[in-house]
Amino acid sequence: MCGIVCYTGEKNASKVIKKGLEKLEYRGYDSAGIATVGNPSLKVSKGEGTINQVLNKELDGNTGIGHTRWATHGKVNKTNAHPHTCSKEKIAVVHNGIIDNHEELRKELGEERFKSETDTEVIPHLIEEQLKKTDDLEKLCRNVINKLEGSYAAVAVLDTGEKIAFRKGSPLVLGVGEDEYFLTSDVTPFLEHTRKAVFLEEEDYVIIKDDYQIYNSGEKIDREVKQVDWNAEQASKKGYDHYMHKEIEEQTETVKRAAFQDRKDLQKAVKLIEEAEKVYITGCGTSSFAAELGASYLRETGTDVEVEQAHELEYRKDEISEDDLVISMSQSGETADLLSLLNKVDAETLAIVNVVGSTLDRNSRQSLYINAGPEIGVASTKAFTGQLTVLKLLQYALEDKTEEGRKELVQTSEKISETLENSRETVREASKYLSDKEDVYFIGRHRSRFVSKEASLKLKEISYIHSEAFPGGEFKHGTLALVEQGTPVIGILTGKGENDTLSNLVEAKSRGADIIGIGTEEKTGFKHFIEIPEDSNTEILETVVFQLLAYRTALNRDKDINPDRPRNLAKSVTVK
Ligand code: F6R
Repeated sequence: MCGIVCYTGEKNASKVIKKGLEKLEYRGYDSAGIATVGNPSLKVSKGEGTINQVLNKELDGNTGIGHTRWATHGKVNKTNAHPHTCSKEKIAVVHNGIIDNHEELRKELGEERFKSETDTEVIPHLIEEQLKKTDDLEKLCRNVINKLEGSYAAVAVLDTGEKIAFRKGSPLVLGVGEDEYFLTSDVTPFLEHTRKAVFLEEEDYVIIKDDYQIYNSGEKIDREVKQVDWNAEQASKKGYDHYMHKEIEEQTETVKRAAFQDRKDLQKAVKLIEEAEKVYITGCGTSSFAAELGASYLRETGTDVEVEQAHELEYRKDEISEDDLVISMSQSGETADLLSLLNKVDAETLAIVNVVGSTLDRNSRQSLYINAGPEIGVASTKAFTGQLTVLKLLQYALEDKTEEGRKELVQTSEKISETLENSRETVREASKYLSDKEDVYFIGRHRSRFVSKEASLKLKEISYIHSEAFPGGEFKHGTLALVEQGTPVIGILTGKGENDTLSNLVEAKSRGADIIGIGTEEKTGFKHFIEIPEDSNTEILETVVFQLLAYRTALNRDKDINPDRPRNLAKSVTVK
């Protein structure tokens, strides 16, 4: 995880980097730091907390690097925060990833020169050693890379102003502006300066002096400069208190965008599914719930489909053959568990992904884009409903009903604002009620059981209230024992299992539970009942309400909770 920003140009580097790092805090925010090439030496400022807590004055210099950390090696403290420097403080490095052979390298380089407990610190010392042997930066990069095992996106700045960067297994994008360059973990930090980007490929390394050069295995490479579709406004809060709230409210637009897939790409995806012997659909966290729903859609078309979370599917890699298709669901396209699985199977690959140019996108045979725009809140919201939209559209396309399906999805998107508006008051009341509870249970049946899993994950990850989700039928086979006077049980009353779920709620109520329902027709006997419109894609409408419920509950529970940055989590999980 961790976020990286390097800037070189005519502006004050620390100012540009600080703003850029704020955009990357979804990747980690336990400590942060910046180094600039000042006059006469490198200046480093770092510490625990977010970049705003760490840096309250500008550093001089027009070139620099910055980092926002999600700790892997070494506790959270100032010493372990990046940038890390070499012994003579002439080289500073920021890094995202894990250097697997760092202990070996530490011994080789001499333990006594190390200040921190991090794996990263080997990089500035390796560069320092190489600089004693050569001033050819291309050769130096090659030699350093040859020594490193593991994954890295690393940027080093030398006190002479040169920048070198290398990537393997962790993302790094080069932003190309007018007389300025950026090296960042994703495009959002530089969107307000430039929308031209080069997505660096595996094992690329870059040297920036007056302009930039990209190399791979000793060869100079011409990588395409792409125009990024996203803009700076999409990556801003647009007046909302939190990105999460903005991202919930903008789903009318994002679901509609997801429904308008490129016709040819959709057809290619359909062909891949039709030709596959077996389809495996996978993802992690919220994306794995999209995969579960997607599997239920595809099964209705007669497709032989299995669904499993990527980290578990990897243990079954030998079952997956080259005649099969793996469909990967991901917002970021950088989830390590997913990428690791894909590395180990020979099957065809289809990605349903939000971030264009991400590793998953580049490593997959075919991609369908969610088109949700930048999702910055750590908890996935609009990406999930975008994933469901693309999966539904695939179902319709497989049934030869693409246009009909698209129309229905557009109608669903148009009901999102109305659904949020009409449920706002009840959600507010229900969230106040939930905010001091210790345990919350969600139940649903058939497709709603997957929505209930997502609702439960959303609530627990941002409000820190313990929550679990079950198929309604499963509840009485054990967990019902935990229900006591006042335990909240939330049931989804739509679709095939509606009446049975209602019975399960009534059973819970007779054992003291406070029941909350969501459905198309208000029912009596509920503590709160959230009414949503009838719709053929009801899971999308239920989801947006649950997102708002989780958001409001978190705010009501503790004013210090920042729903955009839940504790211990990072958005892009680039470690296994
Ligand atoms: C939860 C959440 C995570 C992600 C998961 C996969 O709100 O956001 O569970 O869904 O880490 O991430 P992506 O979709 O980027 O592969």
